[in-house]
Amino acid sequence: MAKLQLRNVWFRYSKEEDYVLRGVELDLNESELVVVRGPNGSGKTTLILVAAGLLRPENGEILLEGKPIYEQLPLARRRIGVTFQDPEDQFFNATVYDEIAFALRQLKISEDKVKACVTKIAHRLGIEHLLSRSPYRLSGGEKVKVALASILVYEPEILLLDEPTAYLTPEGKDEVMKILSELKNSGRSILIATNDLDIIKYPVDRILRIVNGKLFAEANRTLDKIC
Ligand SMILES: Nc1ncnc2c1ncn2[C@@H]1O[C@H](COP(=O)(O)OP(=O)(O)O)[C@@H](O)[C@H]1O
Ligand SMILES: [Mg+2]
Repeated sequence: MAKLQLRNVWFRYSKEEDYVLRGVELDLNESELVVVRGPNGSGKTTLILVAAGLLRPENGEILLEGKPIYEQLPLARRRIGVTFQDPEDQFFNATVYDEIAFALRQLKISEDKVKACVTKIAHRLGIEHLLSRSPYRLSGGEKVKVALASILVYEPEILLLDEPTAYLTPEGKDEVMKILSELKNSGRSILIATNDLDIIKYPVDRILRIVNGKLFAEANRTLDKIC
């Protein structure tokens, strides 16, 4: 069974507006890295927020290991890590250290353990040297890594990432995609929503396109895989 499933999901922001998601079907499996592409305004961010259980669909279901996500809150929140299109929307602490430590402190873990976990994840992402800095005064790539660290620290099984490569240098993209590839290999289910054309350079399991509020497999990618 897929880790996260969207079944005939319909979503609109208000009754006066058109549906943004029109019957989305998606299976995200364990140890799978899936990309959803589409132009601005096609509904990628909406999809991420709906899949995370942060926006409730009007129709359809989001299933976490086969059970409706809305029957598994708040615990489901710890199993799903979300990063926003603009990392700054995620930050609210004075230092990178506090930003990464926040979720663990909510879990009432001892400060010694918090420090050990923060140090470990900072090392993994190569951001130890940023721990005392303000998260708001970092480069684009550094912000993305801090946003990732702040969710990876509580070890979510599912990662839903909105434009994680936007505004990064080519080297920054390589680094972030390498980290995501390692996470996938260690069993995580990862969904990336992006309008970044460079994404096709990287090895991912599937590329989907969002068209008129529905997801379709990208034909070219399938052919690439066959050959
Ligand atoms: N908070 C909101 N309220 C109303 N409409 C919104 C809101 N956020 C996004 N939209 C609209 O939903 C559509 C999809 O937007 P979005 O999911 O942000 O697309 P993408 O991430 O692909 O650029 C767009 O028409 C956008 O204007
Ligand atoms: Mg978006």
